[in-house]
Amino acid sequence: MTDLRWGLLATGTIAAEFAAGVEQSRHGVLAAVASRTAERARDFATRYEIPKAYNSYEALLADPEVDAVYVATPHALHEEWAIRAAEAGKHVLCEKPLTITAADAEKVIDAARRNDVFLMEAFMYRLHPQTRRLVELIECGAIGEVRAVDVTFSFDSDENDAARLGDPALGGGGILDVGCYCTSLARLVSQAATGIPAVEPTRVTGMARLTESGVDEFAMGLLRLPGDIIAQLSCGYLLTQDDHIRIYGTTGQLYVPKPAWIHELRAPGVSTIVLTPSGGEPDVIEIEATQGVYAREADYVAAHVADRQGPELTWAETLANLRTLDRWRTAVGYGR
Ligand SMILES: NC(=O)c1ccc[n+]([C@@H]2O[C@H](COP(=O)([O-])OP(=O)(O)OC[C@H]3O[C@@H](n4cnc5c(N)ncnc54)[C@H](OP(=O)(O)O)[C@@H]3O)[C@@H](O)[C@H]2O)c1
Repeated sequence: MTDLRWGLLATGTIAAEFAAGVEQSRHGVLAAVASRTAERARDFATRYEIPKAYNSYEALLADPEVDAVYVATPHALHEEWAIRAAEAGKHVLCEKPLTITAADAEKVIDAARRNDVFLMEAFMYRLHPQTRRLVELIECGAIGEVRAVDVTFSFDSDENDAARLGDPALGGGGILDVGCYCTSLARLVSQAATGIPAVEPTRVTGMARLTESGVDEFAMGLLRLPGDIIAQLSCGYLLTQDDHIRIYGTTGQLYVPKPAWIHELRAPGVSTIVLTPSGGEPDVIEIEATQGVYAREADYVAAHVADRQGPELTWAETLANLRTLDRWRTAVGYGR
């Protein structure tokens, strides 16, 4: 496998975490970083020993020594920069959500297809061994037939995140920022239970508390999914809740007290899934992750770049999740 030379678009929180991940990856090399300002690009390049710092995203895309681009801007800018990166012949790993709507995602996927480049939405939790173990447990019938899913991802953001997430022009709101993990996980459970790839709900309803700026600060959703599974989702960016996953089946339940997306599990270490058979004692299953999530993600892109899609995070998967998010956002009042 040849090493991928990465160019990073933006210098915010997640760009820094990904840069550290590439440093720890086996098949990634930090080649360049771009910022809207020269100073931020230089500072970031110094911090992560990146050889090239560009004061515009365009300049990085013109660099022939960059193979793959990581798009780490606020959501609303993903579409433009993922398309421009693909048109510059770069492979693209784009932060979640790939775009604001499924229709926008079609345009990005079309650009990747036309330019014959790799494209993946950066849902790193899908690659974590805990998530893979959860899928195996459902597939092997550890809790019988799945009936219900309960998933929460919600946090009280700091000033920087609150500004970005409160701004409708940047694609603000909790549903797009963290609710996207809830829909992704609920759909994954349905997929594992039914074998249907890129599965989509048959019904989506929801409610939200909207901010004065008109974005969802706290939202709940209900999905009816193939396999006759009902999922309740909860997310928000101004409210601390206990993040968790609970999956109830006809012969037992699975409980994930710390899902793979939480901050603590981004580093290598041990996570757990609690399997409780109906009427039985809980069995705490320990799962070891030997690599951090972003190092794993960078290596995953290197491993699948020739296929143009990641098998766990295909273009069909991204579209199915975004269509679900479109419906959830419509249900809570967007577009009215
Ligand atoms: N997968 C994960 O674990 C994870 C975790 C957190 C966030 N994310 C995703 O990553 C993306 C960025 O989140 P973040 O937390 O890194 O945000 P952030 O800290 O606010 O950083 C965003 C960066 O984007 C650039 N940018 C370009 N245009 C901008 C604009 N109009 N306003 C503000 N910034 C702009 C800025 O870098 P320059 O000024 O240097 O260009 C800024 O530092 C989001 O889409 C989010 O969903 C993913």
